[in-house]
Amino acid sequence: MSDNPIVFIDSGVGGLPYLEMARNYLPEENYTYVADTGNFPYGEKDATALQIIILELITDIVNRISPKLIVVACNTASVVALPLLRDRFGIPFVGVVPAIKPAAEFAAVNRNGGIGLLATRKTIEDPYTDTLIEDYASSVRVDKYAGINLVDFVEHNFITSTDEEKMEVISESAEYFSRLEIDSLVLGCTHFIYLEEYFRRHLGSSVAVIDSRKGVSRQIKKIIKTEGLVSDNKKRDIFYVTCGKGEQLNYQRFAEKFSLEWGGVL
Ligand code: DGL
Repeated sequence: MSDNPIVFIDSGVGGLPYLEMARNYLPEENYTYVADTGNFPYGEKDATALQIIILELITDIVNRISPKLIVVACNTASVVALPLLRDRFGIPFVGVVPAIKPAAEFAAVNRNGGIGLLATRKTIEDPYTDTLIEDYASSVRVDKYAGINLVDFVEHNFITSTDEEKMEVISESAEYFSRLEIDSLVLGCTHFIYLEEYFRRHLGSSVAVIDSRKGVSRQIKKIIKTEGLVSDNKKRDIFYVTCGKGEQLNYQRFAEKFSLEWGGVL
């Protein structure tokens, strides 16, 4: 038993939909979310710089919050730093990587069309992603696209933007994939989950939009059960950012949207 928190991290608000699903699945757990807004965005940084940033963040979190498990709720951070984190810290980590495996399973059962992978530039370019594709989807065509402007839009404008603006911002990447006649679209950046509904609207029902939220929730459950870390003492769920400059209201609104206590700057 442990009522220490399960900590979710991302460069910003991308991991919140992952926390939301885990909390629905495991409501007795205590959750802490840390948006590393001081280092946003991760997807445009080089691998070494990003590894240093993530190691520093996790060290701080381990020292100050004592998490029983950390979810790296960011594809970019997971592909770049997960093995390093597992090596360095004596606590379990759950990573979030592009859902290529479920998409390939879907392709095998349903049709045999292509998979579209929409992610950050770093995730698209990282060799880890190529290995993922070779391992699980070698017989399927996988087309990759970096949705660079989408991360920024979700982080800074999602809360205040209109439906039309959301449809407009996804149109370039959605049109790219429409032309390629894919059967499934993998949202390989946690920020893109916020735009799922708009991709569905644009691409229509013949394209499955896939992410890794369910798999991540199941993995958390499996680990806390086997490690004897399940909680029976629900206390609080809290949201921190790592930078105090500007935009507090934007982040407070996200905290409210996901029913998290606002913790301010960590
Ligand atoms: N949400 C992150 C991901 O899943 C990256 C966003 C960023 O570039 O900071 O890749």
